[in-house]
Amino acid sequence: MNAPFQARAGLRDPFQAFVCDDATADMLRPVAVEHGWSPEKVNKGGLRNAVQSLSVSASPNILFVDLSESADPLNDINALAEVCEPGTIVIASGQVNDVRLYRDLVASGIHDYLLKPFTVDQLRDTFANAQTVLSGPRGEAQVDKPHIMAAVIGVRGGVGASTIATSLAWLLGEKAHRSTALLDLDIHFGTGALALDLEPGRGLTDAIENPSRIDGLFIERAMVRANERLSVLSAEAPIHQPLITDGSAFFQLQEEMRNAFESTVLDLPRHMLIQFPHMVHDAHVAVVVAELTLAATRDTIRVLAWLKSNAPQTKVIVVANGVPSGGALEINRKDFEQSIERSVDIVIPADGKLAAQAAKLGKPLAEVASGKVGAPFTALSNMVLSHATEEGAASETSAAAASGGAKSLVDNLKSMLAKPKAKAA
Ligand SMILES: Nc1ncnc2c1ncn2[C@@H]1O[C@H](COP(=O)(O)OP(=O)(O)OP(=O)(O)O)[C@@H](O)[C@H]1O
Ligand SMILES: [Mg+2]
Repeated sequence: MNAPFQARAGLRDPFQAFVCDDATADMLRPVAVEHGWSPEKVNKGGLRNAVQSLSVSASPNILFVDLSESADPLNDINALAEVCEPGTIVIASGQVNDVRLYRDLVASGIHDYLLKPFTVDQLRDTFANAQTVLSGPRGEAQVDKPHIMAAVIGVRGGVGASTIATSLAWLLGEKAHRSTALLDLDIHFGTGALALDLEPGRGLTDAIENPSRIDGLFIERAMVRANERLSVLSAEAPIHQPLITDGSAFFQLQEEMRNAFESTVLDLPRHMLIQFPHMVHDAHVAVVVAELTLAATRDTIRVLAWLKSNAPQTKVIVVANGVPSGGALEINRKDFEQSIERSVDIVIPADGKLAAQAAKLGKPLAEVASGKVGAPFTALSNMVLSHATEEGAASETSAAAASGGAKSLVDNLKSMLAKPKAKAA
């Protein structure tokens, strides 16, 4: 609803209301007139009528809905969200005085909730505030903040790449105040929407099936909003349907997201990297997610080498995720760094309890994390921002180069692989 972009603002009605009683209608009409809006845009029928009406017509800039006749306001607001185009500012009113409902409604994208009975001055304040948001900083922000794109790549399955992609996208929105798109390219098994407690919708599937439809308006309609500054495009494609695409849909999605948002985070499964190498060409930063295991060491080496030859302009950040605090490491950090011939930039500790909590709450790990787990996420987000806005080539810190760079990649890995055997002998 109040999403950070407004591609079609010019085509919309400035205002519509759907109320349940005459008293509310009588209060709204003169206030609408004060704003230069037609009093005829105040309709009867409350939320139900709003859903019906918006499913067949364009959404207004400001929408007032009366929830008084709604038995399950939160559920009904979510139904409204499905038909209401992004960019609309929704003001709800109702008789339920419950702070939890208020919070849930705001989390669903409602701009404000007016508890009945409310005064005409409260109504004026709410509309004035909505108009400020509407004409406010969203358009200007794009001028100040050039678009940045980060691709998050897990070197092995299950290393936490999606956890990090979702968290990074959330941090760029919430903490860096950038309107952010999360594009989840794990078409069949993606968790971008699931992790944020959202339904993925058909947007990404439609885009793949029909790339010629992708434009600014398509993006505006297809993306699912997680909060005011984070929107997601993700899919749960049927697993009996193979992915049939030449990749042009992904390329075009990237292009449109660049126009509509201030940052884009790609959750890029490594098999997609092989199939659609162009996906990283325009990324300012590649976040390579690994764990401290032998298999991940081998594949980090391979992914880093791939990036060097296929996207030399993309700056690389290596993240070691899920690092246990005790001594239960398959390979220690120093040996890992020596093998991959560069430093690990960010270490995120293993914290199963926190990961479970985030999953249960449907929130990104970075949102529920603090202290030892929160700090590396903040550092990652800052590093992405600074790398993306820096000029020049990738600033890799090569551990091996610093120590003379004596061994080859293969020699390093061989020596790592030899260690456990030597112990067993
Ligand atoms: N630092 C961490 N501590 C504990 N658990 C974690 C951590 N990071 C991620 N996890 C958990 O690991 C699991 C796998 O994470 P995630 O889905 O992000 O991995 P992935 O690399 O995207 O996997 P896939 O290869 O399937 O795409 C999830 O249950 C997640 O909650
Ligand atoms: Mg994943």
